[in-house]
Amino acid sequence: MSDEFRFNLIATDGKARRGEITMPRGTVRTPAFMPVGTAGTVKAMYLDQVRDLGSDIILGNVYHLMLRPGAERVARLGGLHEFARWPYPILTDSGGFQIMSLADLRKLDERGVKFKSHVDGSEYELTPERSIEIQNLLDSDIQMQLDECIRLPAERAEIERAMELSLRWAERSAKAFGNQPGKAMFGIVQGGDVIDLRLRSAEALAAMDLKGYSVGGLAVGEPQEVMLKVLEETLPAMPGEKPRYLMGVGTPDDLLQSVARGIDMFDCVMPTRAGRHGLAYTRFGKINLRNARHADDPRPLDETSDCPATRDYSRAYLHHLVRANESLAGMLLTWTNLAYYQSLMAGMRSAIEAGRFADFRSETMEAWARGDI
Ligand code: GUN
Repeated sequence: MSDEFRFNLIATDGKARRGEITMPRGTVRTPAFMPVGTAGTVKAMYLDQVRDLGSDIILGNVYHLMLRPGAERVARLGGLHEFARWPYPILTDSGGFQIMSLADLRKLDERGVKFKSHVDGSEYELTPERSIEIQNLLDSDIQMQLDECIRLPAERAEIERAMELSLRWAERSAKAFGNQPGKAMFGIVQGGDVIDLRLRSAEALAAMDLKGYSVGGLAVGEPQEVMLKVLEETLPAMPGEKPRYLMGVGTPDDLLQSVARGIDMFDCVMPTRAGRHGLAYTRFGKINLRNARHADDPRPLDETSDCPATRDYSRAYLHHLVRANESLAGMLLTWTNLAYYQSLMAGMRSAIEAGRFADFRSETMEAWARGDI
């Protein structure tokens, strides 16, 4: 395998794209879903299961790993791939988003962010340079710039301030990252739901000639139609020959609609978190196993699935495990959900190659609407 980081477009169908990112640790088939492995573990899953489901890349978080066990320690132990036993590509998120949602924020200024750990209350600082240093210590293959993501709704002035700060942090992050063959640092388009700010962000980042670009600051409280409108208006300003990653999204429907608009990569806690809360994503839509209607139902979630968790266990048993708070409930439902997400991505990839993405999209949505009974 070459030591280059490359993105090849294999096929397009309308705005939907089928591509491949190649890097020394492996090839990522796009559109790709990246399971979230926050703390070096995709919760409730063995990483060989995650791999077997067709995951080419997983995500890790600077925020969690810097607090525990510490980036320098992971580096001493051989880097995140060795530590977690995942030899394939890893993308790490830069930390800004998690600080906003989890930490007790102390101070945000031009230099960076100071915050208190949600684990033990101790004080930390993250700057664009330190975030890249941590991602280098983790040895991640795709690194993200530090950015400031704000919740919506928000005032234009506030959205603009955070977007401009994120652009300056992109410059500093790119400088700190330098030129690392076989690896990439992605910029993050911000700008909330304000189209001219999104365009300014996308154009300024495009001028930095980074190896990939992501759209941040979405799925943060706005309706789906707002998110899709932002994508429609913003994607044309993002370089078409580079991978385009929508951060923190989403439901199966969000993935389908975003691929239709030209997104190549996703990550989201939805399949893993929902699995630990008794929810299953299947070909028939979302099923809440906590619901009493499953208590006597001997049918599996989907007898046609390749995933043993989805195919071999009765809904009655899954319902029982969920109600009894058994660990196996989270394990089986996370397995089901990641299997469904990865089969949806595989379905989208084949449909784009076959030039039948629009049909695939309507068939998939019809099956969700029909439900499971
Ligand atoms: N994850 C979901 N949204 C975002 C975002 O806007 N920025 C970063 N860094 N991570 C995210």
